[in-house]
Amino acid sequence: METKTTVITAEQWKQQELLCDKIKQYWNEQNIKPLAFVDTYGCQQNEADSERIRGMLQASGYTMTDTEEGADIIVLNTCAIREHAEQRVFGNVGALTHTKRRHPRQKIFLCGCMMGQPKVSERIKHSYPYVDGVFSTHHLWQFPSLLWRVLTVGKRVFAVEDEAGSICEGIPVLRTNELKGWVSIMYGCNNFCSYCIVPYVRGRERSRRPEVILDECRELIAKGYKEITLLGQNVNSYGKDLGLGVDFADLMAQVASLEGDFRLRFMTSHPKDASRKLFDTIAKYPKICKQFHLPFQSGNDRVLKVMNRRYTAGQYLELVEYGRSLMPDLVLTSDVIVGFPGETEEEFEDTLKLIEKVRYDALFTFIFSPRGGTPAAQMDDPATKEEKNARFDRLLALQNRISEEKHRTYIGTVQHVLVDGRDGQMLTSRTDGGRLVRFAGDDALIGQFVDVRITDCTTWSLMGELNR
Ligand code: SAH
Ligand code: SF4
Ligand code: F3S
Repeated sequence: METKTTVITAEQWKQQELLCDKIKQYWNEQNIKPLAFVDTYGCQQNEADSERIRGMLQASGYTMTDTEEGADIIVLNTCAIREHAEQRVFGNVGALTHTKRRHPRQKIFLCGCMMGQPKVSERIKHSYPYVDGVFSTHHLWQFPSLLWRVLTVGKRVFAVEDEAGSICEGIPVLRTNELKGWVSIMYGCNNFCSYCIVPYVRGRERSRRPEVILDECRELIAKGYKEITLLGQNVNSYGKDLGLGVDFADLMAQVASLEGDFRLRFMTSHPKDASRKLFDTIAKYPKICKQFHLPFQSGNDRVLKVMNRRYTAGQYLELVEYGRSLMPDLVLTSDVIVGFPGETEEEFEDTLKLIEKVRYDALFTFIFSPRGGTPAAQMDDPATKEEKNARFDRLLALQNRISEEKHRTYIGTVQHVLVDGRDGQMLTSRTDGGRLVRFAGDDALIGQFVDVRITDCTTWSLMGELNR
């Protein structure tokens, strides 16, 4: 595997921009206003990548549509994190033969994390002949040239060569949300947790330069964005590769010091290098939300070791304690895997114990899914599916109880929320800690920060009324 990342030069990107212009002209000459449908699977990193894909399509003359039917290009940005995610993509790709038959000039592109696996791109090549183009995350910046080739040469293109990854500045971004903006601060992951496919499909860690990140944030604030989320697979490693002496906590402090009425979030953190300095920074700046998503994966030290997580349950709890000593109301969320190969009943119970100790506000719970090419996929896995499902249900019942208990403590309090939309009769909003609050109100409030008095709750959300 290549280890050195590539910085794409301004000149290289300029070539792609010129191709966007040529594609625009190609459609103009035919008097066609082309439509594009971009569908995203997986995490915020993929959402952020899709905003760049849409940006490149818009620069190439396309208008976005929200259906496959009649689209001149379909781009599926895929996720490889669990088998279920991949099956959904294969199912949906299968169905596209029909939409393409109804609209023969339709071009179909697949990209994202799944396409970083040679066995997947081979399968697409041989079993899905109507797919026109495939590119892995490393080749995203070359999308205009791939599309140009498909449109003009009429041959299928596959840009899936393995590499350590690249950084390309200047790609236009077409954002789907006008209030909340994602800003990727780094790409890739070096951690190689033994169950995880991400380092194989997204390459090595590489950071964007602080000044381009700050510029992007300034632009969002100037456009009226109210929430910025800094994104990376392991944001705590930010800056290590740049050698500028700016770490993640420094970057957060710089963004949080920008003028304007906005809130700052980040994801995701790895506990092995979540520093005390980062907690200090979160506590210090009012604009940084008092919420921390800190995946623990397992509460058992043997399992953590085999997962290659490089911390113990004790070290994890110390971090949480430190954070809470500075910010008693810190909202904590996490990811956990149930049924890792060889996990015994007692080891699983250590996970329950850790959850009881931390009392998370919310948890994202996953049943282990073997990913080809990762060490965990080769490990003995004697527990049955039924045993794993039973553990999963116990964990969920515990967390649901805790979530509801925590939500109850909000009743009677006043929360400063950002109103982000409407769901039926109710406006939807988020607290600083990221909890969902529903309340009755006028659409004019969407996009504003308001105070809401909490009156009731469920396991998943809070209900309230405008506090005038
Ligand atoms: N970079 C982030 C996680 C990204 S993946 C981090 O390290 O925190 C999101 C979550 O998916 C992981 O935290 C893990 O809980 C889960 N996950 C990853 N690989 C998995 C697998 N093979 N099976 C089940 N869950 C998995
Ligand atoms: Fe995967 Fe671990 Fe990297 Fe997260 S830190 S993306 S779980 S390898
Ligand atoms: Fe999936 Fe890739 Fe994200 S595998 S979870 S889309 S980094």
